[in-house]
Amino acid sequence: MPTTAIILAAGEGTRMRSAKAKVLHELLGRPLVTWAADAARKAGAGRIVVVVGNGAEQVKALFAGEPDVECVEQAERLGTGHAVRCALESAGIDSGCVAILNGDSPLVRPETIAQLANAVTEGGQAACVLTMTPPDPTGYGRVQTDASGQVTAIIEHKDCTPEQRAELLECNSGFYAFDGAQLAGHIGEVSNDNVQGEYYLTDMIAILRGAGLPVSSTHVADADEMLGVNSRSQLADASRVMQSRINEGLMAEGVGMLDPSLVWVGPDVTVGRDTVLLPMTFLSGDTHVGEGCVVGPNSRLTDTRVGDGCTVEETVAIQATLENDVSCGPRAYLRPGAHLLDGSKAGTHVEIKNSTIGEGSKVPHLSYIGDTTMGAGVNIGAGSITCNYDGVHKNKTTIGDGAFVGSDTMMVAPVNIGAGALVGASSCITRDVPADALAIERSEQRIIEGYAKKRRQAQEREGH
Ligand code: UD1
Ligand code: CA
Repeated sequence: MPTTAIILAAGEGTRMRSAKAKVLHELLGRPLVTWAADAARKAGAGRIVVVVGNGAEQVKALFAGEPDVECVEQAERLGTGHAVRCALESAGIDSGCVAILNGDSPLVRPETIAQLANAVTEGGQAACVLTMTPPDPTGYGRVQTDASGQVTAIIEHKDCTPEQRAELLECNSGFYAFDGAQLAGHIGEVSNDNVQGEYYLTDMIAILRGAGLPVSSTHVADADEMLGVNSRSQLADASRVMQSRINEGLMAEGVGMLDPSLVWVGPDVTVGRDTVLLPMTFLSGDTHVGEGCVVGPNSRLTDTRVGDGCTVEETVAIQATLENDVSCGPRAYLRPGAHLLDGSKAGTHVEIKNSTIGEGSKVPHLSYIGDTTMGAGVNIGAGSITCNYDGVHKNKTTIGDGAFVGSDTMMVAPVNIGAGALVGASSCITRDVPADALAIERSEQRIIEGYAKKRRQAQEREGH
C-alpha cells in the first residue's frame, strides 16, 4: 500500500478548449482530479499531494475540507520531473512508498495502485512502472527492458530513434510507485537535456538503474483504466467506461435496467435490489434509492433519498426525501426540503418545495405547494396553490389531517386549514379555516334563461 500519493494536475489541457482547468471538468458529476484522489485513498495512501498550476485556486477549493489532501503549487510547468520535485520538496517527502498518478486519468482502479505499490513495499523494487500496449503507441514514452525483464529506461516518443519507435511497443502509462527515499535522493539528477527541454520524470528509471537499484514493471490488464482525458471526446469516452462499470456493478447486485447505456448513476449513489431504472435516468450526488422502486423514464434525482416501493416517473428532484410507497410524476418537480411521507403522491405538473406531504396525502394535478406542513390523508384538488411569497417574506401554510381542498384553491399564507375541513373549489383562502368547517369564497353563480340562444339569433341577423 502506498504511504503517499502525488497527483500531477498542473497541466493546462488546451485541447479541452475551455475556460476551466482540465482537471476540474466533471465525470459523472465529480471533478476529474477527485477521482484520482479517491482511487489513491482507496489504495491506502494516507497522504495525498496534488500538484496544482492551472486553476490552482479552484482545485485547492475542491479539497478544502479533506485533511489527508494537500496542494502544492508548481509555478512554472517545467515537466513531470519538476512537478514531482516540487511536491517532494514542498511537502517534505523523503521516505515510505510514493505512488505517482495523473490527475487526468480518472479510471485507474485502487487495486492497480496498490499492486504497483506492493512491488516496492514487498517486492523490494526501487520503482515499479505501470505499462500498457495501446493500439497506437504514438506520443507515449517507450519502456525499454533487459533480458531479465527489469526496466532499463523510458524513452519519450519524441526522443526515440525510428527503430525504437517501431520496436518498443510497450508504453509508459504515467503511473508509478517509487521508494520515497530513493526518489527524493535522486530527483535532483533529472536534467532537461532532451528534445522538449523538459524535466522528465521518466528519466528517474535510468538514473535509479545507474545507481544499481532494481526497477520492475506491471502491465495493466484493462487498458481502459489508463484512458487519459485530454479532449472533450476523451471525456465522453471515459464517462461511458465509468457508466458501464457502475451499471454492471448495480445490475450484479439486483438492480434492473431496460437499457444501461441510457442510465447515468454517480459514484456515491446507492440503489436497492429489484429497483428498475428506466431510460434517461440520472442519479447524482448523495442520492440513495431503496428496493422495489421504478425510476424513470426521464428522471433526474440529485442529493435525494427514496425509500422502498416508490414510483418516480418523469421527475426532477433535488434535495428531496421520499419515504416508502410514494408516487411521483409524470412531471413532478421536487425542490429542496420536499418530504413526502409513506404512500403520498405528487402527481402531474406538481411542484413541491420545503414542505411535508403527510402519509397517504395526495397532490395529484397542477399544484404548487411551498413552505407547507400537510397532515395525513389530505386531498388537494387540481390547480390548487399555496401563495407562500408576499414579495418580501416566505410564509407558512398548515393543512390538518383529512382536510379536503377543492380544485383551484389559493391558500394565501400564512394560513391554517384545520383537520377535516372542507374548502370549496375556486376559493381564495386568506383567513384560517377551523377544523371540520366549510370555507367557501366565491361570488354567487347567476343563471339567465335563454340568453345564449338570443345572442346567437342576434348574430345571425347581423350576418355573422
Ligand atoms: C507522460 C510521460 C510518458 C507517458 C505519458 C502517459 C513524461 C516525461 N512522459 O507524457 O512517458 O507515456 O505521460 O500519459 O513524464 N504535469 C504537471 N507539471 C508539468 C508537466 C506535467 O503537473 O510541469 C502533469 C500534467 O498536467 C499531466 C501529467 O503531469 O497530468 C502528465 O504530463 P504530460 O505533459 O501530459 O505528459 P505526457 O507528454 O503525456
Ligand atoms: Ca498526457
